[in-house]
Amino acid sequence: MKALVVFESYFGNTEKIARAVAEGLAAHCEVTVLRVADARPERFKAFDLVVVGSPTRAFRPTEGTKALLKALPAGALQGVKVVAFDTRMDVKAVNNLILTVFSGLFGYAAEPIGKALARAGGTQADLPQGFMVLASEGPLRDGELDRAAAWGEKLAA
Ligand SMILES: Cc1cc2nc3c(=O)[nH]c(=O)nc-3n(C[C@H](O)[C@H](O)[C@H](O)COP(=O)(O)O)c2cc1C
Repeated sequence: MKALVVFESYFGNTEKIARAVAEGLAAHCEVTVLRVADARPERFKAFDLVVVGSPTRAFRPTEGTKALLKALPAGALQGVKVVAFDTRMDVKAVNNLILTVFSGLFGYAAEPIGKALARAGGTQADLPQGFMVLASEGPLRDGELDRAAAWGEKLAA
């Protein structure tokens, strides 16, 4: 099985998760990891599984991720398994009432990414996943890298 992991990352947290997912996938797959800026949507069909991850910014994926998803030709992911993840603030750790309420209302990046991948014809391999950072620029919550690697392995199995 051939898997592609595409990510965007400002402070490095999403990149760490993307590489941990790739490490998990590598137990059973040939894996390519690409930044959004280097990914060619027209080539996604060459993979059995496409994983797309973004930081959550203003309750949505990053602009680069949105542009990539928009550039997916219709049917580009027909026959391809797809799955989305994001990094997001752990509202319990941040303990900010406004963020907690707005996050509940407006959500996170992974869900719209998953929907866009499905609209392009992809078959969802799993529910969108969120990995937690403890503050705006990180760090990741303890255990998130292990969880990401285990998730990657599960996706590949
Ligand atoms: C401008 C900005 C907006 C953000 N908006 C959200 C948000 O709406 N919800 C959330 O959970 N985290 C939000 N965050 C925290 C990011 O999710 C966090 O920076 C990201 O997970 C870090 O990933 P990276 O290191 O890969 O850039 C925001 C951070 C910044 C800097």
